[in-house]
Amino acid sequence: MLTGKTALITGGSSGIGLAAARRLIADGARVAISGTDEAKLDMARRELGGETVAIRADVRSLTDLKAMAKQAADAFGTIDILFANAGVAYGTPIATTEEEAFDRLMDINVKGVFFTVQSVLPVMADGGSIILNTSWLNKVGTPGRAALSASKAAVRSFARTLSAELTERKIRVNCVSPGPTDTPIHHSAGQTADDYKAYTERVGARVPAGRMGRPEEIAAAVAFLASDQSSFMLGTEILLDGGLAEL
Ligand SMILES: NC(=O)c1ccc[n+]([C@@H]2O[C@H](COP(=O)([O-])OP(=O)(O)OC[C@H]3O[C@@H](n4cnc5c(N)ncnc54)[C@H](OP(=O)(O)O)[C@@H]3O)[C@@H](O)[C@H]2O)c1
Repeated sequence: MLTGKTALITGGSSGIGLAAARRLIADGARVAISGTDEAKLDMARRELGGETVAIRADVRSLTDLKAMAKQAADAFGTIDILFANAGVAYGTPIATTEEEAFDRLMDINVKGVFFTVQSVLPVMADGGSIILNTSWLNKVGTPGRAALSASKAAVRSFARTLSAELTERKIRVNCVSPGPTDTPIHHSAGQTADDYKAYTERVGARVPAGRMGRPEEIAAAVAFLASDQSSFMLGTEILLDGGLAEL
């Protein structure tokens, strides 16, 4: 249980981040969420209710990240749990990818995570838990996803190094590594409900478990890594991919 704990979740307005916010609140934590879209943040804050704090912050902006950390600290004092979850996903085929698309992906998924941790550390409690959201893609080669997979492999690596760097403060850094999970990240422009259903069935059929993951299934691992139940886990990851990477 997380009674009395405080948490900050980047990208907490949607998908896995929002499911994690629901779960941590259910487990007794007070939660701050961040994202770039004010309307989505507002909807999530109203749904989560209670003492939830919603903060507009783009993880590409160090100014935003510092202000986010301050706002969370103003609301809660110190932060016990950081879920650095904000991220994007799109294909980057080697033949056609432009520099701008590559840079955007790395800015959000890699630089954004690094500076999220840097910005929040000064307001984190010693003994806290940092959870990074990587992906099953950090371990496999799939066509057209070189930049996305590399960005997630970088995040996987951050967990090792940052955990080693933060042992004195007893702050543990671990990852969740989701497989294809049914969230708005899979939505695309002009897609109908039938198109999306066909898409989820097609993707699910490639997963040994026979379906896409549910955000709540990833959130359960976040709650475990956030809690003292995972106190002997440092610098590692929990793979939740329906068997994709290993079977
Ligand atoms: N769903 C999957 O299949 C899957 C698989 C493996 C890993 N993941 C990882 O899980 C994480 C969450 O993804 P999701 O599936 O839950 O997708 P999602 O529903 O699209 O949520 C993404 C969240 O990140 C926020 N975000 C995006 N760009 C941002 C930026 N520049 N600054 C701050 N916040 C930003 C979004 O808020 P705004 O829209 O307001 O900016 C949103 O709250 C990502 O890191 C993703 O790579 C997902």
